[in-house]
Amino acid sequence: MAEPFLIGEAMTGGYGAVDILHSCTLAVEKGEIAVIVGPNGAGKSTAMKAVFGMLKLRQGRVMLAGEDITTLAPQARVHKGMGFVPQVANIFTSMTVEENLEMGAFIRTDDRIAETMGQIYDLFPVLKEKRHQKAGELSGGQRQQVAVGRALMTKPKVLMLDEPTAGVSPIVMDELFDRIIEIARTGISILMVEQNARQALAIAHTGYVLVQGQNRYTDTGAALLADPEVRKSFLGG
Ligand SMILES: Nc1ncnc2c1ncn2[C@@H]1O[C@H](COP(=O)(O)OP(=O)(O)OP(=O)(O)O)[C@@H](O)[C@H]1O
Ligand SMILES: [Mg+2]
Repeated sequence: MAEPFLIGEAMTGGYGAVDILHSCTLAVEKGEIAVIVGPNGAGKSTAMKAVFGMLKLRQGRVMLAGEDITTLAPQARVHKGMGFVPQVANIFTSMTVEENLEMGAFIRTDDRIAETMGQIYDLFPVLKEKRHQKAGELSGGQRQQVAVGRALMTKPKVLMLDEPTAGVSPIVMDELFDRIIEIARTGISILMVEQNARQALAIAHTGYVLVQGQNRYTDTGAALLADPEVRKSFLGG
């Protein structure tokens, strides 16, 4: 079988002497959605940071489009086509919506930035409406749209999202998931951590259940949703 488009393979590492990840593997195929779920403190954010190069791995590797990027800094990974929306502090609150999007384009040297911004405004019309407003004045769901939009400004091949629906209402969550499906349909791979496990697994090609820095279950989203053990322990029955 061909190697996945992006894979963090057998990743072991942590923040200091103590390992948080123990041979953890996450992968996503081109244009597909992979979802990571698991209890608080399981290491989901740590695994995302490891894939993005914000954590030094003691063992394991990260491969993107067949290239070993394990030793690359996050900024170099952005140049390779990775976009990352972290769980916290993912927008510049004192800047306007438009300035946030412009900041997202920092690595680009082409002259089609306005075109990409137009695409993002098509995807998230409320951002166009509020483009001159400070991002800090937006609602939680709107801020998440800014964060996703900012990451899309680099025209990534892979978009990594750490809890994109945190703190938003069920309706806004559904809308955000619809937009994420739309983004994946354009060929962008999505690797996403989600607390709303059921809803997220319902749109996932692949799902990962992480526990204590290890892979507990890996299967299609549908199979995990149908698994009585997974349901009982991780999906609330
Ligand atoms: N910067 C840090 N320095 C030291 N330890 C950290 C740091 N960030 C996280 N940890 C520890 O790593 C473990 C995993 O944390 P992580 O944030 O990856 O979990 P998570 O699965 O994303 O949790 P949540 O669902 O609450 O977001 C926790 O025990 C946490 O205390
Ligand atoms: Mg987290």
